[in-house]
Amino acid sequence: MAKASGEKANGAAAPAAAAPQARGEGRLVRLRVRRQDTADRPETRRWEEFKVPYLPQMNVISALQQIQRDPRTVDGKEVAPVVWEAVCLEEVCGSCTMVINGRVRQACSALIDQLAPKGEVITLEPMSKFPLVRDLLVDRSRMFEDMKRVRAWIDVDGTHELGPGPRESQARQQERYPLSRCMTCGCCVEACPQYNDGTRFVGAFALNLVRLYNMHPTGAMRQDERLESVMSEGGITDCGKSQNCVEVCPKEIPLVDSIAAVARDTTKRMLFGWLLK
Ligand code: FES
Repeated sequence: MAKASGEKANGAAAPAAAAPQARGEGRLVRLRVRRQDTADRPETRRWEEFKVPYLPQMNVISALQQIQRDPRTVDGKEVAPVVWEAVCLEEVCGSCTMVINGRVRQACSALIDQLAPKGEVITLEPMSKFPLVRDLLVDRSRMFEDMKRVRAWIDVDGTHELGPGPRESQARQQERYPLSRCMTCGCCVEACPQYNDGTRFVGAFALNLVRLYNMHPTGAMRQDERLESVMSEGGITDCGKSQNCVEVCPKEIPLVDSIAAVARDTTKRMLFGWLLK
């Protein structure tokens, strides 16, 4: 005998298909985007509002992609597509970082259902602590320059013939691992009151990298240079201890602990470093 619609072969009733409204059909996502045509034309700074069709599980990047396909404001005016940056789409590269509803975070992991469960307007702005390129795209070069300043790497060139490096216990590796999750996204410095055009402060991410590479048994061979690099202007003493950094870090890196550890090490070096000379 033919089975009635909705009944499985084993007799169990199949789950009823979700109603179109429950699937979000017909729902629109509203986005208010801060725009600026070029860095040197602040007079073009403005807000533009868009509406795009809702899709289940969509994130801010997929909403921006829909705007890109049909860049039209809520008034029906055709405009230039919004410019933003994204690479990995899985909160690993940090390139899609922007200010969403007033909080700095990654657009690829910002879900529409959580941001606007009742269809609220979602605001998107570029990070404010970096030079603007266009719309939501900023230039994070300052962070990469500061990585060079603090020697955020381990020197292994030319060591191949020296044999295996120093061994490290599992416990030590596990202690260091959370520090290595930094993706240089910029969240910590965007939230930091000390990080701005008027200072040379390197920020929490760079101080965390000093701790990370100094904890590594091979990296520790250059620890003095790393500590020296943050004992001058823009270094550890520029931290105002607001602790905003740890609040916004998407990787939950213990940034305040790292800053405290680097502060201890630089104090020791300041007091006793002359003995090593
Ligand atoms: S695209 Fe890489 S973190 Fe979002």
